[in-house]
Amino acid sequence: MRAVFPGSFDPATRGHLDVARRAADMFDEVVMCVLTNPEKTGRGRLALDERLTLLADLTGDLVNVTVDSSPGRLLVDYCREAGIDVIVRGVRTSDDLAHEWPMAWMNRHLSGIETLFVPASAEHAHISSTLVAATTRR
Ligand code: PNS
Repeated sequence: MRAVFPGSFDPATRGHLDVARRAADMFDEVVMCVLTNPEKTGRGRLALDERLTLLADLTGDLVNVTVDSSPGRLLVDYCREAGIDVIVRGVRTSDDLAHEWPMAWMNRHLSGIETLFVPASAEHAHISSTLVAATTRR
């Protein structure tokens, strides 16, 4: 089965890598796909090509993980075209779950594709791209 692990990845973190590694153990192929999050308005911190380069570097040793992008498009449209069976999302907190749940419902309603929630490992639960971006100088 092919899974997509979608996100803004601005920047990708060790938490993302942990989820990607665990998803890679469950699926034949995992595509980490950079998409646009309409809730994160304003200019992103990293350009698309920088996000992709960072993702490729982080996941270089995972043979069944690839990287891709589909900016400005619906995730389900990407899934249909790429032959994706399952969407993978990492969750750290109950707030994350509450936020993810409606998207999972909508994505399944639109396409029939299920979302698999992978709980963050305890050692990564405090890491978010937003906080990494806020505390890192460029
Ligand atoms: O890393 P993020 O910002 O939490 O990722 C959110 C993302 C990009 C996966 C989500 O916003 C998304 O799927 N964007 C693509 C547009 C889309 O399909 N929106 C409808 C979701 S029901």
